Order: sequence, then structure tokens, then C-alpha cells
Amino acid sequence: KPALAQAGVAGTVEAKGDSASVAAPQMTRDNGAPIGENRHSKAAGDLGPVLLEDTTLIEKLARFDRERVPERVVHARGTGAHGVFTATADISSITGASLFMPGKQTPVFVRFSTVIHPSGSPEGMRDPRGFATKFYTDQGNWDLVGNNLPIFFIRDAIQFPDMIHALKPSPVTNKQDPNRFFDFFSATPEATNMLAHVYSNLGTPASYRTMDGNGVHAFKLVNAKGETMFAKFRWISRQGVRNLNGAQVATATWNYLTDDLYGEIGKGNFPVWDLMVQTMSASAFAKLDYNPFDDTKEWLGVPFRKIGEMKLNKVPTNFFDYTEQSAFAPANLVPGIEASPDRMLQGRLFSYSDTQRYRIGANAMQLPVNRPLASVVNNYQDGQLDHSNRASDVNYFPAATAAKSTDARFRAAPYGIDATVDAKPIAKTNNFAQAGEFYRALKLQDKADLVTNLAGDLNVVTSARTKTIMVSYFYQADKDFGTRLATAVNVPIADVTRAVADYRAANPGQSGR
Ligand code: HEM
Repeated sequence: KPALAQAGVAGTVEAKGDSASVAAPQMTRDNGAPIGENRHSKAAGDLGPVLLEDTTLIEKLARFDRERVPERVVHARGTGAHGVFTATADISSITGASLFMPGKQTPVFVRFSTVIHPSGSPEGMRDPRGFATKFYTDQGNWDLVGNNLPIFFIRDAIQFPDMIHALKPSPVTNKQDPNRFFDFFSATPEATNMLAHVYSNLGTPASYRTMDGNGVHAFKLVNAKGETMFAKFRWISRQGVRNLNGAQVATATWNYLTDDLYGEIGKGNFPVWDLMVQTMSASAFAKLDYNPFDDTKEWLGVPFRKIGEMKLNKVPTNFFDYTEQSAFAPANLVPGIEASPDRMLQGRLFSYSDTQRYRIGANAMQLPVNRPLASVVNNYQDGQLDHSNRASDVNYFPAATAAKSTDARFRAAPYGIDATVDAKPIAKTNNFAQAGEFYRALKLQDKADLVTNLAGDLNVVTSARTKTIMVSYFYQADKDFGTRLATAVNVPIADVTRAVADYRAANPGQSGR
């Protein structure tokens, strides 16, 4: 409804100029009052000043002054689309989540993003790519806030602010600087697997449509009987995975990823992904040579099965209303899907909702892009911009009259713990093996591109120590990888093998094997 009609003001005016015959909605002030003049301020005569009493002007400037919210502290540059998820397999034996009934359709909103660079940055910057999906299920919103890469740099949320500080522009020069982030990563050997992925051409996708997506963490699935199982989710692109090499990305246009997504959806060429799941029960953990809740590892060798498909078929009518104000949070889970003990996921459960209360406001979840399908949220809470429209004087629990109920079926699954509380590293670190497997699986040209891409940034590093340690990590992943990189960045191989020996001496028994 036009604002005018909502405000109860009758009539429209005819637009002037080329579209004189089209009835244009009347412009209004925020109180709904029609505006008579929108191009000239109220001034005291030809030569006099503008008056404070020009409330139309004052309100317009005040609104403009506040019309942006802070950009996301990470993943600021993104683009989004609406779509639909269709469940294709009966997985009720492993989860009670209501969206997975075969044939059931659930609306979704997806936002793709780069990580480090600001909201107006070019889309071709090397980065993991965010792949965040909000499923508007009939039991609340489930957000699968993932990346295109299957693993992550670090395994404990307490390191996330430091890592992001190292990757963001220097606080002194305001420029991103490989000296800073490789300084951090040279003390973070668990990042080797992720660095190998992000410096491969996967770090510069050809389009968002030609990217897979990964939930990265393990989640806990709970079935109707209360039995639990752990699972990882992956989106497989039906368009295939396609990336750009360094030369191609150098000529990519500023908005090439948004242009592609909007362009193809606009043409009716809707991109489709299959949702796959891997499952593991707790009884399998002891046999692994890594920690199953370490997000620097994939569950290699565990089979995937398809459980649904997603089609993106509509771009948002307004970027700010939908894409910018979208608020994805790993804490947005639904009955049947719970958090695992993954130490990164545990931190993320807090961080997203917290930043969104600051970035958008306490009632961010009431905005059209974020609100659940069951649009009445029964949580008894007020707060800035609340309009949940509650017509009862009972805003407490428990209450004898007008009581709200809770349902024991939706209680979180209980679990036992027998442990000593401590803040210490995980036992099975196994920092390099999977990076080696990743490297060896690449095609010849992709291996060469990975070495070139990595050498490009490592060659900016002035500290010979940092460079040598970084090369020694890739050498521990795969000898050929490390040797080629050493040549590309002029580090003598004898220095590399000495760094490997130093690492092994300082980290006895940390291989995880
Ligand atoms: C966005 C924190 C790890 C994927 C964000 C935001 C924060 C954040 C504060 C901005 C959210 C907003 O303003 O709405 C963290 C912390 C992490 C972490 C503290 C580690 C403890 C990860 C990991 C992944 C990931 C491991 C991938 C699996 C994303 C994505 C977005 C995002 C895709 C953008 C969501 C959107 O499109 O709005 N993260 N993050 N993050 N993060 Fe993380």
C-alpha cells in the first residue's frame, strides 16, 4: 500500500514531465503528511538564510544522516537472492527437523560475500566466499552460515578477532599487508589446509553460481526418539565449480559476481544446488587421526548423501531492505539440528546475534528478511522498534491466565560430560596432512596456479624467518608443494628443512597420528 493511503490521505497527483499520464504516489513526510515542495528550501528572501522551521528539509537531512547501518565487521561485501529449498530424501531416522519431509518446499534467502574487504570493494579480491542460507522453516528459521571452502583457518573462536585484525588493513597505513597476516599464520600451523585452499583458484570463483557451499562445522542431529548423530552439510553446485586464475581475475569487473547472479536470475536461468549431508556417530571418533570437531579438517572419506535441492529464482526488490539488513546467525537452529562442541561454532553461536543487535538493533529479527514464517514471535520482550503487536497484559512466565506453553518435544537433547575444565589445545592437531591431500588432488595447472598465487603474496613478506616458516608448513603438507614454493619465493631448501626439524622438535607428538 502506498504510504499515503496508509496514512489516510486521499488522492494522488499527476507526475509531471515525460510520464505525465501516470499517476505517481504522493510524496510524504515521515508522519504521512503530503509534501508540497521537495526541491527548494524555505529561505528568507533571495539573499537570506534557510530557516530552521523548514521541517521538510530538516527531516530529509536527518533521515539521510542516519540512512546507513554499520557494515558487517566481516563479510561486508555481498549480494543476495531469494529461492526455494525442496527436500528430496526421508532423513527422519537422523533428524526431526521438519523441513526434511520429502517434497516439502521451504522458502530461502541466500547471501554470498567476500570476507575481509569493505562493502564497496571489488568482488574479485582473493578470499573465502560466504555462502549463507536462511531457511524459513515452519518451525523457525534455520541459518546455515557457511563458506565455499570446506574448512577454516583456525579452530578456536578466541583467535578469530586476532586473525581478522591481521587480515584487515593495518591500523597504521590502512593497507592490507601480507607481512602482517603471514606473521600471524606463521604462528598458526593449523591454517595450512585453509591457506592451500584459499590461494588455489577456489579463492577467486568465476561466479557465485559456480561455487559449492559448506557448513564447515559438525552439527548435532537429533531424531524424534532423541537419538543423536553428528553431521556436516555441503551445497554442490549444479552449474559445476568454475574459478578464475590470476590473469583472469585481474580483468574481472568490479561487480562481476553480482552482475552474473542478477543477470542470470533476470534471464530465468535459475542456479540450483544439491544439499548433501555426511554423518558420523560418536562411536567412530576414536578411530580418526583428527578431532571430528576441528573445523580445519574435512571428514575425508565419509560418504555424502543428497537430502534436498535449492533454486534461487528472485533478486531482492531492494538491496538494503533484504541483503544489507539480512542477519544470519549460527545460533538460529531449529528442533532436530543442534550445535556440536566445535570450539569455533561455540563462539559463533554468540558472536553473530550479538553483532546484529548492535549493527541492526534488538529487534532485527522482526524485519521482513529476518522474520520467521510464523510471524508472531512469542518471546515477551520489548525493545527498540518492537512491533510484534502483543495484545495481552501477561508478559511474564509462568502465568495462570493467558499462559503461553512450552513443549517438551522441543527440549534440547541431553548429553553427558566427563571432563576436566581447562583452556588448552586439542589433542589431535594433525596440522598438515589434509593440505597435502588437497594439493595432490589438484590438476597440474591448478597446482602451478596455487604456487604462483601464494608466492605473489609471500614475496611481499620482508622477514626471511616468516617466509621460511610458511614454506616449511606447505613442505610438511607435501614435499613437492613446499619445494616449488621455496623456489618461487627464493628460500633455500636447507632453511626449509631446518624449520621443519625445529617445528617437530617443538611439537613432539602433535601430528595426531
Ligand atoms: C559474518 C563472526 C567464523 C561465515 C560474520 C559476522 C561476524 C562473524 C561478527 C558479521 C555478521 C553480521 O554482521 O550480520 C565470526 C566469528 C567466527 C566466524 C566470531 C569464529 C569464531 C566463520 C566461519 C564461517 C563464517 C568458520 C564459515 C563456515 C560467515 C559468513 C558471514 C559471516 C558467510 C556473512 C553472513 C551474511 O552474509 O550476512 N562472521 N565468524 N564465519 N561469517 Fe563469520
